[in-house]
Amino acid sequence: MPLMTTKPMFDLAYTGGFAIGAFNVNNMEITQGIIEACAAEKAPLILQISKGARKYANMRYLRHIINAAVEDHPELPIAIHLDHGDTLELVQGCIADGFTSVMIDGSHHPYEENVKLSKSVVDAAHAAGVTVEAELGQLGGIEEEVVGLDADEYEKNIHKFLTDPDQAADFWKRTGIDSLAVAIGTSHGAYKFKNECKLAFDRVEQIMKTCPGLPLVMHGSSSVPAEYVDLINKYGGQMPNAKGVPEEQLHLAATKYGVCKVNIDSDLRLALTAKIREVFATKPGEFDPRNYLGPGREAIVKIVKSKVQALNCAGKAEAVLKQWEKLGRPVPKYYQG
Ligand code: G3H
Ligand code: 13P
Ligand code: ZN
Repeated sequence: MPLMTTKPMFDLAYTGGFAIGAFNVNNMEITQGIIEACAAEKAPLILQISKGARKYANMRYLRHIINAAVEDHPELPIAIHLDHGDTLELVQGCIADGFTSVMIDGSHHPYEENVKLSKSVVDAAHAAGVTVEAELGQLGGIEEEVVGLDADEYEKNIHKFLTDPDQAADFWKRTGIDSLAVAIGTSHGAYKFKNECKLAFDRVEQIMKTCPGLPLVMHGSSSVPAEYVDLINKYGGQMPNAKGVPEEQLHLAATKYGVCKVNIDSDLRLALTAKIREVFATKPGEFDPRNYLGPGREAIVKIVKSKVQALNCAGKAEAVLKQWEKLGRPVPKYYQG
C-alpha cells in the first residue's frame, strides 16, 4: 500500500535528474485525471490538498477518493501533502487525517517567526513520521498582496523577493525541514509574467551550494498552455495575456538542478475549464455533467502526462518503490491503508 512520505521520492530525485509532479486535487475528476496519467507514465506523484480544497470538498470525501486511487494503483508511489498550510493546528489536523507530508508556509511572516513556526511544525510532523516542506522568499500571484505590489512592480523588483541562499542555510539548520520551497521568479495563477519568463537558476545554484542535499520545491510552475487559454477565450472566457513557465524550463529545473518537487494547479484548472466551456458553447443542449466533466478529465490526463515527461519523472515509479522498501517501508503513524 505505497502511500508514502516524500523521502523515498526526493532521495532519488535530488541526484537522479528528475522531479516529482505535485498536483492539487479538489474533486474526483481531477484526482482521476492525475492518477490515470501517472499510471500510464509509471510516474511517482504527490497529490496535494490546500486549506481551500479541504473546505470545498470535505476531507472525508477527499480521503476516500485518494484511498480509492491508492487501492486502484498499488504500483504507484503516492504522497498526500498539505499545500500552503498556515498554522500548526491545520498541520496537526492533516497529520491526524493521515497526510504523509505537509507544507508550512510562514514566508509572509518576519524571518524569526517563520523559523519558530516551521520548527514547531517539524517537531509535530516528524514525531508522526510525516515530512515537512517550508518556504522562504516571496512568490508573485497570491503572495503579491502580501508584499503590496502589482504584478509589474513585483517583476521589476524581483531580486528583493528571491530566496536568500545564506538565510536558507540558517533556516534549514534551525528548523530541520525536509524540503524548501524557493522563490526564483515564479508566481501562482495564470498571469505569471508581463514580460518574458525569466527564472533565477543562478539563485538555485547558490542555494544548492549553501544547502547541499536539501530538496528544493518550485511553486507556481504551471505552463498556462496556449491551447487551453485560447479555447477559454474562444468560448466566452476572458483571459488575455495569461502566461506561464514553459515546460522546457521545468525540464531544466528537474534535470540540472536540485529541484525535486514541482507544483501544478492552474494548468489543471485551465484544462478542465476550457473543455467545459467548449462543450457548453458547441452543445448548448448538453446538461449531463458526465458529458462535460468527462472531456475535462481527459484534458487533465493529457496535461499531466506532458508535465511528468517534462519533469523526467516517467518510468521512475519502480525505483521509488524500491527505495521505499530499502528504507524499511516507512508509513506515517496515522496512515490507515
Ligand atoms: O498555491 C495555491 C494552490 O493553487 C491552491 O489554491 O488555495 O485556491 O486551493 P487554492
Ligand atoms: P500554479 O498556480 O502555477 O499552478 O502553482 C500551484 C502551486 O504552487 C500550488 O502550491
Ligand atoms: Zn504554491
